[in-house]
Amino acid sequence: MDTSERLRNEGREQLTRPTSSAELEEARVAVLGRSSPLTAALRELPSLAPEKRKAAGASLNRVRQELEAVYAERRDVLAGAELEVRLAADAVDVTLPGDPVAIGVPHLLTQTTREIEDIFIGLGYRVAEGPELDLDYYNFTALNTPEDHPARLSSDTFWVSDHVALRPQTSPVQVRAMEQQPPPIYIVCPGRCYRRDALDATHSPWFMQVEGLAVDRGLTLADLKGTLEHFARELFGGDRKIRLRSHFFPFTEPSVEIDVSCFLCEGAGCAVCKQIGWIELGGAGVVDPNVYSFVEGYDPEEISGFAFGWGIERIAMLKHGITHIRNLYDNDLRFNEQWAGSTLAGVGR
Ligand code: PHE
Repeated sequence: MDTSERLRNEGREQLTRPTSSAELEEARVAVLGRSSPLTAALRELPSLAPEKRKAAGASLNRVRQELEAVYAERRDVLAGAELEVRLAADAVDVTLPGDPVAIGVPHLLTQTTREIEDIFIGLGYRVAEGPELDLDYYNFTALNTPEDHPARLSSDTFWVSDHVALRPQTSPVQVRAMEQQPPPIYIVCPGRCYRRDALDATHSPWFMQVEGLAVDRGLTLADLKGTLEHFARELFGGDRKIRLRSHFFPFTEPSVEIDVSCFLCEGAGCAVCKQIGWIELGGAGVVDPNVYSFVEGYDPEEISGFAFGWGIERIAMLKHGITHIRNLYDNDLRFNEQWAGSTLAGVGR
């Protein structure tokens, strides 16, 4: 067997044995690389006698071409097989459940708003909405608020033009809602309000209120009190009591401030109620007949009603022991997620 033939047989054998691309690469270096016997033989050609050189060169080059072809074919076969294996391993099983998506938590203010809405929906109320930017007509005039009332001052209210302001309360929705339907009407309206208050632990220039309005035949202050009592018991639990203190609002007559007996100490006095035993909830009253004169189809001789309104932040803070209103706006997930999946059971329930 001459050198070419031996190199061909050995080369073939070495190039066909490997079962992976990595092994084949090693074989390629050994068979066709710079330090391979084949390369060495090619390098020795010039030292051969001229009559032998031509034939030996031709056959060695044929061997090299042949082995390169063997190598190329093995490379394709192995790469193809390895690709198959990888594809099989990477195959997506579309029947497997997907990666869980982190589901957010409704903000505590959203949860509190829904809880308040639910209590009133249970009483037959409907949820209404109104614009955050409203005309002075709805913000003040139709709420029986005189031209010189201090709430109209730009020191209290954010005016954006002569007749349009960010609503300082949800009360403008009272008139807007009555314009849209004849009596009887039972609505609650949650929403954002704006006042020129400096930020402190319990005040913010933006905040949320919920407004309530009930107009029907024969409604009195007693109905207001019963409604508020039911609400307080649903929201704070236990045997809550309601106390009404005389107050003034331009659009209610009589007007009251609502206190709830403290849900933590049951009236004995504690830090939450500042030792008073009562917690202030918000404002309310019997709708002033003057307000009906701004709405068609509401005849104060035939119908009567009551309205109420309070801050939603305040309720969330009371129920969950939150000490600074800013916590509700900072959007720190560590804070917000504390109420993940909260049942809103709250204190006292
Ligand atoms: N809008 C009043 C306030 O912001 C609260 C209120 C609502 C009073 C409805 C009476 C009736 O203080």
